[in-house]
Amino acid sequence: MKVVITGGGGMLGWKLARALLARGELTGVDGKPAKISRLVLFDTAFPPKLPADPRLEAVSGDIAAPGALAGIVTPETQSIFHLASVVSAGAEADFDLGWRVNLEGTRSLLELARKCAQPPRLVFTSSVAAFGGELPAVLDDSTTPNPQTSYGAQKVCCEYLITDYTRKGIHRRPQPAPAHHRGASWQAQPGGFVLRQRRAARAAERRGLGMPGGAGHLRVAALAQALRG
Ligand SMILES: NC(=O)c1ccc[n+]([C@@H]2O[C@H](COP(=O)([O-])OP(=O)(O)OC[C@H]3O[C@@H](n4cnc5c(N)ncnc54)[C@H](O)[C@@H]3O)[C@@H](O)[C@H]2O)c1
Repeated sequence: MKVVITGGGGMLGWKLARALLARGELTGVDGKPAKISRLVLFDTAFPPKLPADPRLEAVSGDIAAPGALAGIVTPETQSIFHLASVVSAGAEADFDLGWRVNLEGTRSLLELARKCAQPPRLVFTSSVAAFGGELPAVLDDSTTPNPQTSYGAQKVCCEYLITDYTRKGIHRRPQPAPAHHRGASWQAQPGGFVLRQRRAARAAERRGLGMPGGAGHLRVAALAQALRG
C-alpha cells in the first residue's frame, strides 16, 4: 500500500516515517493489515541523510502551491498523515502564510483525496490551540473550541473541513480501535477523527505510551499503534 506523510521532513513526520518503515505494515482501507510498499514524504525540506530504503521517496514542495500534491496523493493512496503546517508562532507572525498553508494546503489535500480509488484513511494533527479562554480542568469531546490564535483558528477550520469531507465519504476515519478510542489517541466527532494532543497525551501516559512528564506530547509509537485498528 502507498502511504503519504505531508510534513514528512518535520519533527513528528520524520519520526513517524521511521516508525512506519520499521513496522512495515499499516491498516489498509479494507481494515486489514497491509505491507507498506511506498512511503512518500512531502515537505519543503528534509533531514540531510535519508536512509536508502526502496520504499521511501521524499518530495520537496509547497503544499499550498497549485498542483504541488498532484503526483503525491495519487489514486492508489490508502493512508495519508497530514502533518505539514506552519506551526504556532509562525502562523501568528505571518497571517497570510498561516492561512495559505494551514487551511488552503489542507483543502488541496482533501480535494485530491476525493480522486483516490477508495477513500483513504486520513490522520490530521490538530492542536490544543483549538481551545482557549476559560477552560474546564479536563477537556473532553464536548469542550467547545475557542481558539485565541490564527494557528488555533486554522486547526479548528481544518477539523470542520475534515469532518464534512468524512461525512461525505471522501476519506475514511481509522477503524475503531477500542483501546485507543476511548480517550486515548483519537477524538471521535460525528464522521471524523481528530487527534487532539493534550487529551491524547494524558490518556496515553496512563497507558504507559506517553513521554514521561511530557504533557502535550505523544509517543510516535502510540500514534502508529492507534492506527493498527
Ligand atoms: N510538536 C507538537 O508539540 C505539536 C503540537 C500540536 C500539534 N502539532 C502538529 O503536528 C504537526 C507536526 O508538527 P511538528 O512538531 O513535527 O512540527 P514541524 O514544524 O517540525 O513540522 C511541520 C512540517 O511542515 C512543513 N511545512 C511547513 N510549510 C509547508 C508547506 N508550505 N509545504 C509543505 N510542508 C510545509 C515544515 O517544513 C515542517 O517540516 C503539525 O501539523 C503541528 O501543527 C504538533
